[in-house]
Order: sequence, then C-alpha cells, then structure tokens
Amino acid sequence: MAGGAFVATDGGRQYEGEVTAFVLVTCFVAAMGGLLFGYDLGITGGVTSMEPFLIKFFPSVYKQMKDESGHDSQYCKFDNQLLTLFTSSLYLAALVASFIASITTRLLGRKPSMFIGGLFFLVGALLNGFAINIEMLIIGRLLLGLGVGYCNQSVPVYLSEMAPAKIRGALNMGFQMMITVGILIANLINYETSKHENGWRISLGVGAVPAILLCVGSLFLGDTPNSLIERGQHENAKKMLQKIRGTKNVEEEFQDLIEACEQAKKVEHPWKNIVQKKYRPQLTFCSLIPFFQQLTGINVIMFYAPVLFKTLGFGNEASLMSAVISGGVNVVATFVSIFTVDKFGRKFLFLEGGVQMFICQIAVGGMIAAKFGISGEGSLTKGEANLLLFLICAYVAAFAWSWGPLGWLVPSEICSLETRSAGQAINVGVNMLFTFCIAQVFLTMLCHLKFGLFFFFAGFVAIMTIFIVLFFPETKNVHIEEMNRVWKSNWFWAKFIPDEDVSSYEHNTSH
Ligand code: BGC
Repeated sequence: MAGGAFVATDGGRQYEGEVTAFVLVTCFVAAMGGLLFGYDLGITGGVTSMEPFLIKFFPSVYKQMKDESGHDSQYCKFDNQLLTLFTSSLYLAALVASFIASITTRLLGRKPSMFIGGLFFLVGALLNGFAINIEMLIIGRLLLGLGVGYCNQSVPVYLSEMAPAKIRGALNMGFQMMITVGILIANLINYETSKHENGWRISLGVGAVPAILLCVGSLFLGDTPNSLIERGQHENAKKMLQKIRGTKNVEEEFQDLIEACEQAKKVEHPWKNIVQKKYRPQLTFCSLIPFFQQLTGINVIMFYAPVLFKTLGFGNEASLMSAVISGGVNVVATFVSIFTVDKFGRKFLFLEGGVQMFICQIAVGGMIAAKFGISGEGSLTKGEANLLLFLICAYVAAFAWSWGPLGWLVPSEICSLETRSAGQAINVGVNMLFTFCIAQVFLTMLCHLKFGLFFFFAGFVAIMTIFIVLFFPETKNVHIEEMNRVWKSNWFWAKFIPDEDVSSYEHNTSH
C-alpha cells in the first residue's frame, strides 16, 4: 500500500505457466497484510466516536462533547491532542518500521517480514482490545504501526514476485483494493459494535483474526524465487518457480530472474543515484505524489468521518452508517480504477479525479458555511444531510479511482532498477509522514479553520491537478526502459535528461 514496490520489468516477455491454486492461496494470505492496513486505517474513526470508549480513556473530550454551554464552538468539540495521537501514532511507527523492514525483507526474505508484521499486528490488536489504560492503547497502536510498516514493505513485493507477469499490474491495484476492503470491514464492525457497551473492545480486538491468518499462513508459505536467488539458494528457487508456475518448463524465466538479480546487486548506491540530475523526475514524483495524495484530505474522511458527521449533528447510528456508505463507495470506485487505468491512462484519471474532488470539496465547505457559519451552531434538514453525504461519497469515489491507487502505482512504474529501492522508500516514507501529520492536526484544524478546512484541501487539489497537467507525462503502456524518452518529451523534464540516455535505449532496442 499500500507501498507497492513492484518489480514488474519482464520486458513484456511471456513465460510458460498459469495462475496456479498454490499462487492463489499464497496471494490470499499475503493480501491479509493489505486488509490489516485498511482495517487499522478505518477502525479508529468509529471507535473515537463511541461514548463508552471516550468516557474510559478520554473523559475530558467526552465532557467537552456533552457541554451545551456554548463555551466551545461546535467545530472544537473533539479537539484533543491525545485523542489524535491515538489515531496518528500508528503512522509514525509505520514510517520507522518501513525503513527497517526494507533491510529484513532483503536479507531474510519476504516471508519472515510478513510473519514479523503479522506478529506485530496480533500483539497490537490484543493490547488494544484488552486495554485498561491509555498507555496500552498507544503502545498497541505503535505495534500495529510496526505491523503496517513491515507488511507494506514485504507484501506488495511478495505478491508481484509470486504472480505471473500478466496479472502483476492487476495485483498492484489488488493491494489497494484490499486496503479499501479492510476499511469497509472496519466501518461495518464499528456500526455493529457501537450498539454494545464494550463494543469498542471487539472493534479493536478483531484485527487479531486476519493477523493470525497472516502469521500462520506465512509460516507455511514459501519464499519467492527472487528472494531465494538473492540469498544464493538457486536450487530451491528453481523448485519454487516450477511449483508456482505449475510447469517444469521455467528455464527462461529462471535465467531472467538470475540476471535481474545480478543487475540489482550492481546497483550499489540507489540513494546516490536518485539525487543525480537525470533522475530529477523520479525524485520529484516519488516525493510529491505521496505528499499530494495525503493533501487531498482523504484521510480526514477515512479517520474521522463518524466524528465529522457527529459534529454536523448526525446521530450516533447515522454517523456510523454514513461511514459504512462512504467505505462501500471507496471499494466500488477502486474497482472502476482497476478496469480503466490501462484504457484511459493515468493522466486522465488524475485529472478527472482532481476536478471532481475539487467541486465536491467546495460544495461541502460552502454548504457547511451556509448552514453552520463561524459559530458551528445550526442543523441540517434530512434532505440537506443526504446531499452532504452524497457529496462526500462523490469525493471519495473520485479519490478512489485516481490518487488512491495511482499514488502507489505511478511511483513504482517510473523507477528503474538504479533508483527503485530509494524511490519506493521515499514514497512510503513521505506517505506515512503526511498521513501522520493529517491525522494529528485535523481536529485542531477543524477547530480553527472551521468550514474553511474544506477550502484548504480544495486549494491543494487544484494545485496538484495543475501540477499533473504541466509535469506529468502519460505512463500508460510505457515500458520502464522507455521512460527517458517520455521525460524528454515533456517541456520541463527534457532539460534534465541527457540526449545519450534516450538514444542508447533506441540503440538497444534496434538490436
Ligand atoms: C492511501 C491511504 C488512504 C486509502 C483510502 C490509500 O491509497 O494511501 O492513506 O486511507 O487510500 O482508501
């Protein structure tokens, strides 16, 4: 997840082999990693809006929420740094863990990283489910964050290395799909558990189930052929490749894997490479795409939708139901993306998504301004509440077929071997950093900027959309070795790419 380090450069070659049952089971287990990430993204919003949870851990927020004296503006009712830390701490831990995990994944293999990730998820979920004080809550969240860091690093690599080349692109999107499914499951569980006194314990603890699946599953899974080759176990690698492709005839792919591994080993300084002038486009996109993805404001909805709806006067159940609806839209729209991304291209989706998000945010901000003004006092009629929910869903859909999956796909497909590991680390790191920032400051921003918060994010969406128009060349169907030609054709990037780098590709392909 996200965090797709996809090594999908097969040169368009077709190898023998099919999608075997073994691969499917393997991918199912690995996909639990994406599901768990989504689950943890989606679960806190509902939990932090449950009264028994607030009374137990955040009594001051509860008092503030119930205070009818008008002392606090409606917009500030949930503004509490500790409460946001409960949500955001996970992303800080994930940021640190993804760097450590990249080392474990390389040295020990993909499988141990997934197992470690699953274990962190398991202990974190149990600590949260049984929490008796705030320390247990925060430590649990930090452990979940370590799980996210480990899984976001290893699962996408695992999936792409196990899958036959022809379904690799779909799998990249599949990981994002699992994230959205995880968010939806979390929303549904919150909706149910909110009806019970200690329901929040179930919400937080249920994450242990997919965590166990991931742990036990990864004990029985094999490691990928690529990883075995990387660690010098060529015989095992070949056996594994035969097993996952369901044929003995794998020699060609096997030799290509060995060659790719040798090439990768020659890349000694990915961090030095990526700061060279000719890699300026890669450095720019790997940093700005995750930054912009978070500045769309999507996680305001993912983390705080129920709190937001409550702030706007929705009842408990309606708030949680609204989160379920927007969660469902998120899943369906991600499907749309999977089926259109290679037809319409990345640029079209980025632009359509940007325009739609902008319109929705302006409309939501305008509506809240008109109805609640500066004081936050006001109410919505049923029709208005439905319209607001519709606008929020249209915004979520636009994100889910544009910046959501593309935020992971584009950085992974523009980096060649020389810059790939550094590019991915930057992408995941920047994403986690800004996910943390948004989670941490949103409730304070809502308190100070009020309805203006939606205009703030709309402003960023406008900037990123213009950025795409000016600087993003279409990468649909572009093979990785051809990227330089694509940069060269952009008015801005052309001057960074030495002429010989473009002609050397043309020279190579003419052979
Ligand atoms: C983003 C997450 C977000 C999710 C929503 C992902 O692409 O990285 O931050 O919560 O999409 O579906």
